[in-house]
Amino acid sequence: APEGARERFDAVIAAGERVEPRDWMPDDYRATLVRQIAQHAHSEIIGMQPEANWITRAPSLKRKAVLIAKVQDEAGHGLYLYSAAETLGVGRAELLDLLHEGRQKYSSIFNYPTLSWADVGTIGWLVDGAAITNQVPLCRCSYGPYARAMVRICKEESFHQRQGFEILHVLAHGTPEQHAMAQESVNRWYWPSLMMFGPPDAESAHSEQSMAYGIKRFSNDELRQRFVDMIVPQADALGLTLPDPELRWNDERGHYDFGPVDWAEFKQVLKGNGPCNRQRLAHRREAHAAGAWVREAAQAHAAKRARRAER
Ligand code: ACO
Repeated sequence: APEGARERFDAVIAAGERVEPRDWMPDDYRATLVRQIAQHAHSEIIGMQPEANWITRAPSLKRKAVLIAKVQDEAGHGLYLYSAAETLGVGRAELLDLLHEGRQKYSSIFNYPTLSWADVGTIGWLVDGAAITNQVPLCRCSYGPYARAMVRICKEESFHQRQGFEILHVLAHGTPEQHAMAQESVNRWYWPSLMMFGPPDAESAHSEQSMAYGIKRFSNDELRQRFVDMIVPQADALGLTLPDPELRWNDERGHYDFGPVDWAEFKQVLKGNGPCNRQRLAHRREAHAAGAWVREAAQAHAAKRARRAER
């Protein structure tokens, strides 16, 4: 490191200021950001699959238009995040290769299937709700490009969460069959949505260092608790229940207590053994291969323009 660089970096972190791409940064700070931002970007684009599954079967033209817009937003989030990762000196093609080879992760939640239309509502309410809870603090992340990408992503995620809540609200107040469909969907997604926040603090490999670096502002367990506290009254408003018999208000703690998460299931999903892991990666690889001609055409066009500019 150039003289005084480490001290300047530490001072920026201590003051809660932003580190920018051209600033000197420790190798492990850069590596952690590349890992987290890449995983986040991969989650956005893999996350398009479960919902895209319902575009052709959305129950009305309006629902279809909203769902298409939402899935396109997720693609856009992936693009902002790959761009943020590129400011750290890694290439997008390289990151996609790592995803396709199964050497970088994406969120566990996208390895579960979307079995009913109600799942589109539940994903908006619970999955995007969990994503916002985790991502709002990332708007204050110490790395400038990541923090700024998060601002816009969180605004769009809020819209996604509202549209999901509204879908579920309509179903929960519809016919008994619609209500049952909504409840069955919430029963399946509730526990996996709690797993999105990552392992318990005691088992979280990166939390301590990431919090010291101002990348993470709150621990996995803190954000999981915040999420449970937020969704319990929302479930009441929907007229739906959450599938946890141990869920109850704890006056002393000022929080809801909740039952144990099945961490064995989480570990299996991370190892590649969730219900849809193989299908998701296979589809992603196929989509990438099928898009090769677009990348080649874009490069040929750019090369042609560069030659013209030279003349
Ligand atoms: N799914 C898949 N992998 C996970 C999950 C999860 N839900 N939670 C944790 N992990 C992985 C970590 O990436 C890490 O693996 P690695 O060492 O191979 O990289 C390992 O489990 C240990 O976990 P932690 O030490 O707690 O990891 P970390 O400090 O990175 O915290 C967290 C995990 C909270 C997910 C963090 O990375 C984060 O905030 N990421 C940004 C948000 C994000 O990626 N959201 C994607 C889903 S939301 C959406 O896209 C709509």
